Amino acid sequence: MPSFKRNCFTATRFPRTGLALATALAASLSMTSAHAAGEVEVLHWWTSGGEARAANVLKELMEAEGYGWQDFAVAGGGGETAMTVLKSRAMSGNPPSAAQIKGPEIQEWGELGLLGELDEVADAEGWDDLLPETVADIMRYDGQYVAVPVNVHRVNWLWGNPDVLEQAGVEMPTTLDELFAAGEAIREAGFIPLAHGGQAWQDATVFETVLLATGGTEFFQRALVDLDPEALGSEQMIEALETFKRLRELMDEDMSGRDWNIATSMVINGDAAMQLMGDWAKGEFTAAELTAGEDYLCAAAPGTADAFTFNIDSLAMFRVEGEEHEAQQALARLVLEPTFQEAFNLAKGSIPARPDLDMSEFDACARQSLEDFQRTAEEGGLVPSMAHGMAVRADVQGAIFDVVTNYFNARDMEAEQAAQRMVNAAQAAL
Ligand code: BGC
Repeated sequence: MPSFKRNCFTATRFPRTGLALATALAASLSMTSAHAAGEVEVLHWWTSGGEARAANVLKELMEAEGYGWQDFAVAGGGGETAMTVLKSRAMSGNPPSAAQIKGPEIQEWGELGLLGELDEVADAEGWDDLLPETVADIMRYDGQYVAVPVNVHRVNWLWGNPDVLEQAGVEMPTTLDELFAAGEAIREAGFIPLAHGGQAWQDATVFETVLLATGGTEFFQRALVDLDPEALGSEQMIEALETFKRLRELMDEDMSGRDWNIATSMVINGDAAMQLMGDWAKGEFTAAELTAGEDYLCAAAPGTADAFTFNIDSLAMFRVEGEEHEAQQALARLVLEPTFQEAFNLAKGSIPARPDLDMSEFDACARQSLEDFQRTAEEGGLVPSMAHGMAVRADVQGAIFDVVTNYFNARDMEAEQAAQRMVNAAQAAL
């Protein structure tokens, strides 16, 4: 049974993120005190320590404007369970006001005719000028805004515990060869080299990062975005699969089913040296009050310094009426305002969705992320994450997840066979 949590946050449970938010909240409270209006119900899967702190920023901002917040949090990293729950709610004719829906899936919901539009807010707030076109484009269905972006996550990151690395006499690896060599030294020093959680979406996250390192961005684009059968069945795919499976040597035996944030806590508490994971992991380090560059290290995943796998979280809006509609439009407006973008992303580990904000409060990892996002957008190297629903539609993604995770866990499947299954999976789903 999927674990299913509703209304699980309270205002007092999570501290506010920073002085800036507290001041802004106080100001907006005094301006809008008695403005009791509608309520929004928001479905999301931000339930780990860092994620919940980030989600709470939006709840507090809504409440400060006098709106109600019904939390519809469905636990499960990567959001597969949340999407299943959302489908059953929508099918019974009772969708929430807003839901964490991303990438091409926004188009799928748009096609069902269930999404409401945000053009009035978007015009009034000048979203067309605020957002990079790559981001704005994903938020529109049939030319109209139906979703609002909360952030930009980078998926191809490596996180490290500096004490553990030092005890093993190694540095953060910059290539896959260095990663495997460091792994041996770390193992000999008595630590787990790579913390991992054996869940399909985490396997896929690591797999796409390895494929990016071994094949480069052009190959990534052909195989995992364009689903080119030649690329999917190629020697390069076989090499990516074999290298991915070799990573098992660096992982521990108890990884099966482990949640991603538990894997991050293994790096935090020094049981493991490193984790390959998107920068929502930084939210966990931040929640543990650790400082980037001192208590923990971040670096582009080995072999991928010239690339950026992006994952943009967004809230899509369902068709709702009356006071709920009014509250929903306020929610959309707040999400792109500087107060939310700063406080949420400081807690979440991501960078703001709008590039015009002052980044002085952000740490070195976030600043590197922004710089690399902009550089790769201009020079090439920016690719959508398949593992995080930015590249292909949900059915194709599911079929690829199955192949990746089955291959990773099978004792007797050759990489050639897995590559062929990848070709079949993509064809069947097209
Ligand atoms: C989402 C993140 C989330 C992560 C782990 C990703 O797909 O984009 O917001 O933190 O999954 O649940």
